[in-house]
Amino acid sequence: MIQVKDQIYHLGFRDWELRNFHGHELSTFHGSSYNSYLIKDEKTVLVDAVWSPHSDEYMNILEEEVGIDNIDYIIINHSEPDHSGTLVEIMELRPDIPIYCSVKGVETIRKQYHKDWNFRAVKTGDTLNIGKYELMFVDMTMIHWPDSMMTFVKGPNVLLSNDAFGQHLAGASIFEDELDECMVWQEAIKYFANILAPFTPLIKKKIDEVLSLNLPIEMIAPSHGAIWRKNPLSIVEKYAQWSDNYNEGYVSIIYDTMYNATKKMAGAIAKGLESKGVKSKQFNSSLSDMSDLITEVFKSKGMIIGSCTVNSGPLRSIAAIMAEIRGHKLKNKVGAAFGSYGWSGEAHKKIHKELEEAGIKIVMEPISVKYQPDDAELDACFQFGRDFANYLKK
Ligand code: FEO
Repeated sequence: MIQVKDQIYHLGFRDWELRNFHGHELSTFHGSSYNSYLIKDEKTVLVDAVWSPHSDEYMNILEEEVGIDNIDYIIINHSEPDHSGTLVEIMELRPDIPIYCSVKGVETIRKQYHKDWNFRAVKTGDTLNIGKYELMFVDMTMIHWPDSMMTFVKGPNVLLSNDAFGQHLAGASIFEDELDECMVWQEAIKYFANILAPFTPLIKKKIDEVLSLNLPIEMIAPSHGAIWRKNPLSIVEKYAQWSDNYNEGYVSIIYDTMYNATKKMAGAIAKGLESKGVKSKQFNSSLSDMSDLITEVFKSKGMIIGSCTVNSGPLRSIAAIMAEIRGHKLKNKVGAAFGSYGWSGEAHKKIHKELEEAGIKIVMEPISVKYQPDDAELDACFQFGRDFANYLKK
């Protein structure tokens, strides 16, 4: 048990081996943590639990450090199994403990575990006096589940934010200011791009709503990764930026290729962009991690996506990234398609259509090449890059 601040302690489990999360959807190259917190006041309060694969270890810690009989209240800020899984074991031993969660939380916990525990539904502004401290609940609907909420501990002024402001990261310290700052920020934006980006209009509103509460936040302690201690509002400011049509100005050229024709086109397009002063990065999607690729797309102002045609469509890694782009509902980005083909040539047309359907502003008709590009066709790709750069600057 590590002291977070005053009478608040970190009880969670650092999962050093985790390499995928949400099934195999999200890569977690630096592990993760399930940060469960204990508040020791006149009442003993457990805030969030951990995922069931770690139940045995967590229950041992809980028994040794707290004593399950001593828990007065449980707060479940969010009922996804990575934070609620061990409720089952705890409640088997202590079915009387009141569980504070949102109205939706009651519904989702019941539906997941098929138990009718001692629920106390709360909403924004509701408080719970636990002795010296008072807890205040803040609704975070759809950030990122309908039941999500946060708990503010008045006194030490720590915001227990659950998924919001988190990162999938297991580190030597639980505090951001004792870790590699670049890694923490990289994992924070990867978390935002992959998990929260589809909800950016809601996040923008919610950030304003939370700031209007004027909570004197001295620390933000999420349920994954590092606790923001040095300048806690820096991550709130970043969330405000990331949820407001965010980009870092560059273009991601994403392609897959069989005999390098599409790769050669990508290189010529990149040179065209460069000749107009626009920075770009090239990614072969079949060699890229999908979660990192979505993070790159999230950070890009524009995307140019290409594939050769196989079986009347793009290669499978391009089909996969197109589905991700569509699902992430990215805002205010521009795009175009390209590709090579042997006879039928559908891939670049399908990519073009899918970009459009994903809400990406299409600025040019797709460019295609039959078999291998010759010098004139590579010049055309160069010009394609220059034209895209012109649109980007408008
Ligand atoms: Fe960390 Fe949405 O659970």
